[in-house]
Amino acid sequence: MMRLLRVLFCAYIMVVIVNAMPEPKDPRVPFKFYSRQDWGAAPANDTVPLNTPVPYVVIHHTYIPGACHTFEECSRSMLSMQNYHGVTLDWGDIGYNFCVGSEGGAYEGRGWKTKGIHAGRANGISVGICLIGDWRSELPPSMQLETTKALIESGVEKGFIRPDYKLVGHRQVMSTECPGGALYEHISGWEHFSPTFVPMKA
Ligand SMILES: *[C@@H]1O[C@H](CO)[C@@H](O)[C@H](O)[C@H]1NC(C)=O
Ligand SMILES: [Zn+2]
Repeated sequence: MMRLLRVLFCAYIMVVIVNAMPEPKDPRVPFKFYSRQDWGAAPANDTVPLNTPVPYVVIHHTYIPGACHTFEECSRSMLSMQNYHGVTLDWGDIGYNFCVGSEGGAYEGRGWKTKGIHAGRANGISVGICLIGDWRSELPPSMQLETTKALIESGVEKGFIRPDYKLVGHRQVMSTECPGGALYEHISGWEHFSPTFVPMKA
């Protein structure tokens, strides 16, 4: 009888302890991740390995195509960009490493391990993420912004982005309006934003 009570008491204490454990401080924003296979990507013809972890993240908008709001719409945008970059421009694949839709989905482009073609001299030292849409005067919906941050965070956790990475807009690397004035102003308030882009020697 005593033994049974002791066992029950121990079980009770365990339950109390488990329930008293704090919730994780910063629960990772959950986001939908779509692989190349999910959006029906054609096989890549350009697969130069990316030297990771990278010290930079470069943010883009697409301008064209415009914002997409469903998996079907965003998949079509990915396919049209893959066709334009890969076939018309002959880059061998979609240029970006990842894209993010207004519905909050993250879409794998070249991914974490392949060098992108999106920001000239920054290609080999960065992950390029595009927020699908024209963000010159409008901001992307908060889901799109939150997924972008969570995607970067997951890249840090997986060891593909340096924990002390610097975040820049495409316009800081090359002469372009990208990622649009509204989005650029917004990301300039993000924690890892760097007002300057000083590429380190390879
Ligand atoms: C790869 O090359 C083939 C043959 O030229 C072409 O049909 C295909 O669209 C290319 N893929 C990409 C992603 O550009
Ligand atoms: Zn860009």
